[in-house]
Amino acid sequence: MRDLDTTSSPDDQARAILTGNDRGGYTVPTAGLYPYQWNWDSAFAALGFATFDIDRAWAEVETLFTGQWKNGMVPHILFHKPDPGYFPGPDVWGCHGPIPSSGISQPPVAATFIRHIFDADPDRGRARLEALFPKLTAWHQWFMNWRSDEGAICITHPWEAGRDNAPDWDGAMAAITPDGVGEYQRRDLGHVDAAMRPTKEDYDRYIWLVQRGRRLGWNEAKLAEARPFMVADPTMTFVLMRANTDLLAMAKAIGQPTDEIEAWAHTLTQGAASLWNADIGAFDSRNVLTGVRTGTVSNASFLCWYAGLEASEALPAFDRIAAAAPFGVPSYDPAAANFDSRRYWRGPSWPMLNMAIAWGLSEQGYTDRAEALRASTADLLTRHGFYEYFDPTDGHPAGGSNFTWTAAIWLAWASPNAGDA
Ligand code: DGY
Repeated sequence: MRDLDTTSSPDDQARAILTGNDRGGYTVPTAGLYPYQWNWDSAFAALGFATFDIDRAWAEVETLFTGQWKNGMVPHILFHKPDPGYFPGPDVWGCHGPIPSSGISQPPVAATFIRHIFDADPDRGRARLEALFPKLTAWHQWFMNWRSDEGAICITHPWEAGRDNAPDWDGAMAAITPDGVGEYQRRDLGHVDAAMRPTKEDYDRYIWLVQRGRRLGWNEAKLAEARPFMVADPTMTFVLMRANTDLLAMAKAIGQPTDEIEAWAHTLTQGAASLWNADIGAFDSRNVLTGVRTGTVSNASFLCWYAGLEASEALPAFDRIAAAAPFGVPSYDPAAANFDSRRYWRGPSWPMLNMAIAWGLSEQGYTDRAEALRASTADLLTRHGFYEYFDPTDGHPAGGSNFTWTAAIWLAWASPNAGDA
């Protein structure tokens, strides 16, 4: 995309990013590095569009669901148009959904943002919600069928959590020997400094897992027989728990049955509780194959409030980390020896998760913390622009620029004008 006109207001710049990344019915996260429709990026985009163009917001999620598989899964990437600048593309994934896609999913934030869009104008949104509702329900059902470990929602590939190289997966990834992965050429390093991206050791395992999925035809029953990687993840668990609450509210609003959704809520609440780790005073991940707790305090740990939990027991860890990282919330504990302030999910702060954390803090009545987080995120974005992520120690911008979800959360939450639309 062209350089932004930095003399215009941040609100105008954010809108220009969304419309500039619009490829017609769907939005790319950023030109170059991520040239397709990504699942949760797209839901955030819809939230941003809703601040100035409700129809376009609905279209974004409707396009996302055109990629839904027969089993209910909504892929993490939809390859609408070929783009040789990205690896691994559709030929590597080898999937057979209605649109060329990846074979894994991503945190299901969609129901939450769809509720937000619906609530903005229920009369206008009703028919569109009625059409999306069974699709959303089928997707949530897919998580409960194939990704639940006693209610804690698991990932089967690090990309499924969206937190690709988080330290949460280190133990489980080390157990994989990526034999036979072969030669391949990464494309991400042509767009972003290698020090800000996952390592080759990580990438070999990412691709090895994709090759296994492809070999097994992305058949969940076959994939589940001897999983080489399965980790119960706070991102997935808390996001689905929240999404399910929002799905329930929408079911009531449009007169749909609620029994099944209520049963999932019960299971998810138990699953979420199982991720509490008293040793570290925070929610963390669990390697399902070994039962080992990861001991990792991340920004996903602090989605507990967004999930709807009161969780005052997690506040001391949040406060400790907020004091240690002036440009938070860091994706990993700055006190940890392997904290890496600019490397993707091993340190940097991610503005879109800041929004989710702050929504949760505010809903649980921790409003001062929520407002401090909004103000510090707003400061970061007005100073440096709408980057993908930031160094939490000095605020240095990192990853892709003109980033869709960063612009979206500016409009929906961080901007002083958010909420006026
Ligand atoms: C990538 O290509 O880095 C993505 O995070 C995978 O979804």
